Order: sequence, then C-alpha cells, then structure tokens
Amino acid sequence: MQELQTILEEALESFAAVEDAAELENIKARYLGKDGSLTALLKGLGKLSAEERPAAGARINEVKQQIEAALQAQRDAIQLHALNARLAAESLDVTLPGRGLGVGGLHPVTRTLERIENLFHSIGYDVAEGPEIENDFYNFTALNIPEDHPARAMHDTFYIDEQHVLRTHTSPIQIRYMQAHMEKYKHLATMPDIRIIAPGRVYRVDSDATHSPMFHQVEGLWVGEKVSFADLKGVIADFLQNYFETEDMQVRFRPSFFPFTEPSAEMDMSWKGGWLEIGGCGMVHPNVLKHVGIDSEKYIGFAFGMGVERLAMLRYSVNDLRLFFENDLQFLKQFN
Ligand code: PHE
Repeated sequence: MQELQTILEEALESFAAVEDAAELENIKARYLGKDGSLTALLKGLGKLSAEERPAAGARINEVKQQIEAALQAQRDAIQLHALNARLAAESLDVTLPGRGLGVGGLHPVTRTLERIENLFHSIGYDVAEGPEIENDFYNFTALNIPEDHPARAMHDTFYIDEQHVLRTHTSPIQIRYMQAHMEKYKHLATMPDIRIIAPGRVYRVDSDATHSPMFHQVEGLWVGEKVSFADLKGVIADFLQNYFETEDMQVRFRPSFFPFTEPSAEMDMSWKGGWLEIGGCGMVHPNVLKHVGIDSEKYIGFAFGMGVERLAMLRYSVNDLRLFFENDLQFLKQFN
C-alpha cells in the first residue's frame, strides 16, 4: 500500500511545520477527521477480500497510531514552546538592585505637636479638640468679644457665612471643653480641675515669612479653686525648658490685652541673646467663666496660646514658616 506510506510521510511533515495549536487541529482533520484520507482508507477495507482485509486493516491502524503519536508530540512541542516564551517574557532579573520601600515620615509640625502633647501629658494635662469651622459664639462672643467690639478686628477672619468662621484661634476649644465639663460634673458640689491643652489648625488672612493663612496653635487651660499667675509662669517656663532641653531658658511676660483674659500677657523666651514672642496668656476673664456657667467667685484659671510652627522653627532652625506647607520632600526628609 504505497498510498498509506505517502499519507504517513505527508502527515508527519505537515505536523512538524505547524507552530499554532489551533492550526494543528485543523491539519489533523485532513487525516483523521470524518473526511480524512486515513478514515477513507479504513472505510475502503470493506471492499477488500476476506484474506486481504486483516493485514491491510492492521497496517492502516499502525499508521493511524503513528500519526496520532506524531500529532500528540507536536501538541506537546507547541505547548512547551508557548510556556518557554511566556517564561522568557515574564522573567525577573534577580540581580537588579531593589527599588526600596520609600518609607514615609512624620511632618515636622506633627512631630512638634506630639512632643508638646507628651510633655503636657506628663504633668497631667488632657488633650482636647474642637471643630475648625466654628460658629461666631464660640470663636468670639463666648470669649468676651461681643459683636461690633473692636477686638474682632485683631483677627483677620475667614468667614464661611454670617454665623460661621474658620476658627481664628484654638481658644473656642476652651469654651466647648468647659461647657462639657460643667455638664458632666453638675451633680458635684465642687467640680474637678480642668487641665487641658488643645492643639489644632487655625486660620487667618495673613501670609509672609512668619505667617501662613493656616497654622497651628496649642491652647492651654487650667481652671480650679486655687490657680494663680505664678502657676501659669511656672507651667510655661517648665514646658519651654523641657521642650528646648535647656535649663538656662529665660521666660518673660509682657503686659498685653486679650478680651478673654485679665490680666493678659505676651510670653517671650530668651533666644540668641534677645527675646522672641511665642504666644499670649493670662488669667481667664470672669465673663468667659460666666458664659459657660462656672462660678467666677469660686473658680479661677489661666489660659495660654502658643504658635506651634514658631516652636518648630526655633527647634529645627527653620527661617521661613511657609516651608512647612510647600510639601517639598527635600525639606521634609530632613526631619526623618
Ligand atoms: N487666642 C489668642 C490668640 O490667638 C492667644 C491666647 C490664648 C491668649 C489664651 C490668651 C489666652 O492670639
């Protein structure tokens, strides 16, 4: 059967030439399919005599097996080839240097706030918070700054609407905290002392090397039965010495005016042979205590407010406050 030999050779040749799996299956049909040449030969067996038939049938089956084996071998080869191509395309060069994780760090202002909070925490102060969009009552009126009072002009305020402002200082947190404290302890004959700091963002229409329209303050408040101006001086001096890690830090109080404290003072600290202003303070004005329902005959307290960026600038020797808010990584990386 010369024909059988030709079919075998042709099949092996055409299988070997195919690189695509789908095409291989198409070619397979030419030989083994319903109308394939080998199938036709098998069908033709019926026409042979009974003596010829077994030998011819055996030979055709033998060729069929060879074709099937060649087909499977080519399928395997195509699959292996595809796998190798994929592995080559997705290969990693394990000898390349790593890209690094790019670990982030804390912003210098955040570090400063954490430091301030830790120091005050260590002398028994809680940390209080309040909203940045504040209403007129908390930002001004309750702090003894009535409407049309010239003291309102001390703050260049961002107004949201007639009743709401971006808080111009952290002092409204004093009011919120004192109100909540009174509500909590109204059943007691004597209220426990209030001793908090209140850090946060504040806003004023102002921008130059030492002012940013958004900056941070930390408010301090201690109200009790026996709180004196001497306590205020002691707490501030102690805090600054610890914050700047130096014993020979001088603190100076200059008479000043704030509507919500009486007497009021500006706090200066000694710095490089001169004085630097770091915030305002004073004894809480009786009107403020009255606004929150605290008996101003029985209780007295002090309050202070400091600029956080100021403290950060001094500690890290930064000469332009705006650098803190430009998000320049070259600058920020130095603190981590
Ligand atoms: N709130 C004042 C300011 O922002 C600072 C201050 C706070 C003064 C508490 C006295 C007491 O200017």
